Amino acid sequence: MQPILFDIENLTHCYADGTIALRNLSITVKQGKKIAILGNNGAGKSTLLLHLNGILQPTNGTIRFKGKEVKYDRKSLLSLRKHVGIVFQDPDSQLFSANVIQDIAFGPQNLGLPKEEVLRKANPFFKLRTKKTRAIAGVLAMDPEIVILDEPTAGLDSYFSKQIMKVLDHIQKQGKTIILSTHDVNLAYQWADEIIIMHDGEILCYGDPVTVFKQAHLIRKAHLDAPWVMETFQFLVQEKFFSANEAIPQNKEELFQKISSIKSWNLGKISG
Ligand SMILES: Nc1ncnc2c1ncn2[C@@H]1O[C@H](COP(=O)(O)OP(=O)(O)O)[C@@H](O)[C@H]1O
Ligand SMILES: [Mg+2]
Repeated sequence: MQPILFDIENLTHCYADGTIALRNLSITVKQGKKIAILGNNGAGKSTLLLHLNGILQPTNGTIRFKGKEVKYDRKSLLSLRKHVGIVFQDPDSQLFSANVIQDIAFGPQNLGLPKEEVLRKANPFFKLRTKKTRAIAGVLAMDPEIVILDEPTAGLDSYFSKQIMKVLDHIQKQGKTIILSTHDVNLAYQWADEIIIMHDGEILCYGDPVTVFKQAHLIRKAHLDAPWVMETFQFLVQEKFFSANEAIPQNKEELFQKISSIKSWNLGKISG
């Protein structure tokens, strides 16, 4: 059983203009997971993420980090932010400098890390070269235990998106916890260990990708589509290429493997 990093209880957030962005939301986040928060524009994803490193404070409810309630004095926040790095949705709010090296070194230097260590940590990410990827590199260079990314692939072409996801997989394998938001159901379905579906400030469901996307009525309620891998597989089940008991594939490779197995039976559709 992995230790719990965040324990959020009955979190409500109301912005100054009266908009209620989060409604009585509760969730726990375990260490070492790849977590995707899915939801349409305005669902509350950014608002939730901004609470995780203390940029926003709850209007109501509590947030515990490693068992201790988050405090908002300067010292407590600095300590929280050493553990929890965040890449904002808008890279402009992250990048203060036009110079790549300065951007990447800015974070660690802020935390008082020596220059040599900064460059060593920043180095693997120099090849990431758009505004967004530089913002991501800047946060990764701080080497936080938990990396939060608000729509990391939005507005990027598929080449850069894949590069980012590769880097994230790599650091997760080193024991980090990754929490990202996206409205890309295919990315979330194939990448995540756990998915949180948000809609109108609430969590509609939470769990492993297959379990979450099987709840078609909730996916519809959140105005999301089914992932193509799952939809294709479900069509093949409906057409009786597979039995309904067959495990649902979670990615393209698993789906293709199952389709190849049909050929090896050499008789097409199963009976019944
Ligand atoms: N600074 C703000 N002031 C007032 N309302 C806001 C502010 N930021 C976001 N909202 C509102 O809060 C709700 C949730 O927004 P947000 O967390 O940005 O959702 P998402 O990231 O899922 O698109 C939306 O209704 C949005 O318009
Ligand atoms: Mg957002």
